[in-house]
Amino acid sequence: MSDSKHPSTAELRWDYAERVLRRSELSDNPIEQFGAWFTDAVDAKIREPNAMALSTTGLDGCPSARIVLMKDYSDRGLTIFTNYESRKAKELEANPVASALFLWKDLERQAHVRGRVEKLSGSESDEYFYSRPYNSRIGAWASRQSETIPNREWLSERVKKYEESFPESDARDCVPRPDFWGGYLLVPSSIEFWQGHSGRKHDRFVYTREGEAWSLERWSP
Ligand SMILES: Cc1cc2nc3c(=O)[nH]c(=O)nc-3n(C[C@H](O)[C@H](O)[C@H](O)COP(=O)(O)O)c2cc1C
Repeated sequence: MSDSKHPSTAELRWDYAERVLRRSELSDNPIEQFGAWFTDAVDAKIREPNAMALSTTGLDGCPSARIVLMKDYSDRGLTIFTNYESRKAKELEANPVASALFLWKDLERQAHVRGRVEKLSGSESDEYFYSRPYNSRIGAWASRQSETIPNREWLSERVKKYEESFPESDARDCVPRPDFWGGYLLVPSSIEFWQGHSGRKHDRFVYTREGEAWSLERWSP
């Protein structure tokens, strides 16, 4: 469908720049490569460069995606935080695998991480939870993520209730971490780096874990 205010959807097209990605520029370690691209995205002042589409397998077998924020990355994998009773958590319990897709649009890049998912330890979840601002910690208590609720007032009431239960103070755990809130680690089994190029001559490189080592292949765009 189109109207006179903008071009038809089919006409929306962006001409990519002439950037190329060469094998010789890539690290042998995909996490190092990911770090280099993530740093580029931060330096390019892309808003929320740590935002990614996290896809899980729906309980009905249909893919299930949502945006979450990556909060750390290391040789172990990528870290995210969420509600352990949410839809995504139930899906991860049934099938602990996921894909994380980053779009760094201004750099004409995407990175795609796939692998198995593990829960972080309580102490790792604590470490991040207690670094969050007061209202985010209250929000973790107030939201029964992914459940049906009657209206917005219901949520406001819950925020008020937990603000009363856990008044703000200098104590680290003035708002304790709820048992139902914590982190997951996505342990990569493959990581793809995609660089857009003019004329649809994009570059794709895919690292695949093979035991302790990684193979690297160029894929057709
Ligand atoms: C930019 C952005 C960042 C988000 N970050 C998170 C996050 O880090 N953790 C989280 O649980 N939800 C985050 N959300 C909300 C999720 O997209 C999603 O609505 C929520 O986690 C419930 O998903 P689920 O019902 O599939 O479990 C974010 C949403 C946006 C748009």
